[in-house]
Amino acid sequence: MTRPRVLVVGSFSCDTMVRVEHLPREGETSRARTLARLPGGKGNNQAVAMARLGARVSMVGAVGDDDEGRMILAALQEEDVDVRHVRVTDGSTGIALVMVDDAADNTIIIHGGANDTVTCEQVDEALAEARATGVRYDAVVLQHELDLDVVAHTISRAVEVSDLLVLNAAPAARVAQETLALVDVLVVNEHEARVVAGEDDPKGSPWDPVTAVARLRERVGGLAVITLGSAGGVLAGEQESTWSVPPGVEAVDTTGAGDAFVGALVDGLIRGMAAGDAAQRAAAAAALAVQAHGAQSALPRADALDC
Ligand code: RIB
Repeated sequence: MTRPRVLVVGSFSCDTMVRVEHLPREGETSRARTLARLPGGKGNNQAVAMARLGARVSMVGAVGDDDEGRMILAALQEEDVDVRHVRVTDGSTGIALVMVDDAADNTIIIHGGANDTVTCEQVDEALAEARATGVRYDAVVLQHELDLDVVAHTISRAVEVSDLLVLNAAPAARVAQETLALVDVLVVNEHEARVVAGEDDPKGSPWDPVTAVARLRERVGGLAVITLGSAGGVLAGEQESTWSVPPGVEAVDTTGAGDAFVGALVDGLIRGMAAGDAAQRAAAAAALAVQAHGAQSALPRADALDC
């Protein structure tokens, strides 16, 4: 079987990760047990997730001309991800400050750095090259860690090179209806679902995932998917479906679980799986990812996922 081709237009970060007993409260100082600097960023992680499952992945994005950028590019080359459209800029590589506690929960602060220099023109160059060379991608995948105007622009143009546009609207931000209508697969968690749906007070009101996913389904071009962490998730497309997390999962670090899910979901869809089956397999990928430390370092390979 020929390997599916995927284009990820997304972010790179150097994840500066500390493990703490509990996440510090306001005004509190915590002592970290471990410190690690690892390749991360949602775009980067999702690209690697799909490459590890066997896809041919290309990325559009930017890193800084610094040690962090070199570490990220070296890791991508080891994963056989095409980085010809990744720019090396004068500024610093994006940074994510990640704290993970003993309950496997995290808090993350991101500094965009080079990610904020990605332009619509840079994306257009990559899309023009694909058109000129007759490349058609099985999927184009985006997240919300680039300038949101660049994300919207890419979605408006990517239809020229792919029939499957996937938006993981993370971190949470409103999305214009004309953009949502072009998205074939929208993946969000509860908070992101509330923000995309336009709730003014995302935590303040009762919320039902089945109703929420049906409403999102009316606004996107194809499939709406809401992940619910350890409670599984719901999707609505041609059919509606729910899935659960495999039993016996002992999470140590949930960072990157969403990226493992998105990568495996897209991989399943472009290989022709039914949406519900692809989501169940994606939940298994996320379950594997949370059982190891780090975001990208914990993403499973095909032999671990499909054994
Ligand atoms: O989704 C996990 C990622 O989000 C981390 O790798 C970190 O870089 C943040 O952007």
